[in-house]
Amino acid sequence: MAPHVRPRVFVTRQLPGEALGRLSKHVELRVWEEELPPPREALLELARGVEGLITLLTDRVDAPLLEASPSLRAVSNVAVGYDNIDVAACTARRIAVGNTPGVLTETTADFAFALLMGLARRVAEADGYVRAGQWRTWSPTLLLGADIHGATLGIVGLGAIGAAMARRARGFGMRVLYVNRHPKPELEAVLGLRRVDKATLLAESDFVSLHVPLTPETRHWMGRAELAAMKPGAMLVNTARGTVVDQAALAEALAGGRLGGAALDVTEPEPLPMDSPLLKLPNVLLAPHIASASHATRGRMASMAVDNLLAALDGRRPPHCVNP
Ligand code: DGY
Repeated sequence: MAPHVRPRVFVTRQLPGEALGRLSKHVELRVWEEELPPPREALLELARGVEGLITLLTDRVDAPLLEASPSLRAVSNVAVGYDNIDVAACTARRIAVGNTPGVLTETTADFAFALLMGLARRVAEADGYVRAGQWRTWSPTLLLGADIHGATLGIVGLGAIGAAMARRARGFGMRVLYVNRHPKPELEAVLGLRRVDKATLLAESDFVSLHVPLTPETRHWMGRAELAAMKPGAMLVNTARGTVVDQAALAEALAGGRLGGAALDVTEPEPLPMDSPLLKLPNVLLAPHIASASHATRGRMASMAVDNLLAALDGRRPPHCVNP
């Protein structure tokens, strides 16, 4: 990149690590310094006249934004998911779109498994119980939970994160079923997984963990009918996207006692409104979309997003590019 033509770049939030310092050596950089994302009007205004954008999953990049910024050549999302971006509209304008796959796989699976364990063994409830001064003696009936070893885990979407979840589950002595558009015979052989149809997965799994991207096909993949088809007392873990689940139907299934519980790192909307029925249910474990939130992983995601952006601004295809 020639030093005299520094492209203008807007970054919609401060990022951890050294990545933005590195970026600032190559571009005219403007960073949104507030804790909350730029409001829509501010985003449209600040995107005007820039060549590059670094965005988060909270920032909607759609046709009106692209129209407001005809100079835009690259959008780099600091996430593996990119359902906040209209990729087709970007592609039609020859705007490169990057994402951050791979670097967050293990960290996200760690957290999905932590949620599964926390839900099964009621860790948050136990913590609240002790802090509230309710612990009076050891009791044979206190806070009984579900066993993880020997249970069946159903994985929905055997991509990189789903496979990492399967490895953890096998290490804990679980039987693992999966649904995926394509069979993965190599993983079946190495990990002893079984590909089944949706009905079998729902009927046989003690835990169901969602690992699909949000697309028109996966929207409400876990709907009212699917929740009703789950094994009674089964538990749901969602670290994918909130909209993959019909949340109203989930709250009803939980309140009605049909399901054993749900652990949700992602919800619809985010943040979850304080009047959500999910907040009133003791068998719901909630987290604020932090599955990839380790120091190291968030630093790597930021760095990868900068690599993608710099490549695109330099006229190269970003190393992780989602345009077809
Ligand atoms: C992603 O990368 O898509 C996650 O949801 C945030 O890390």
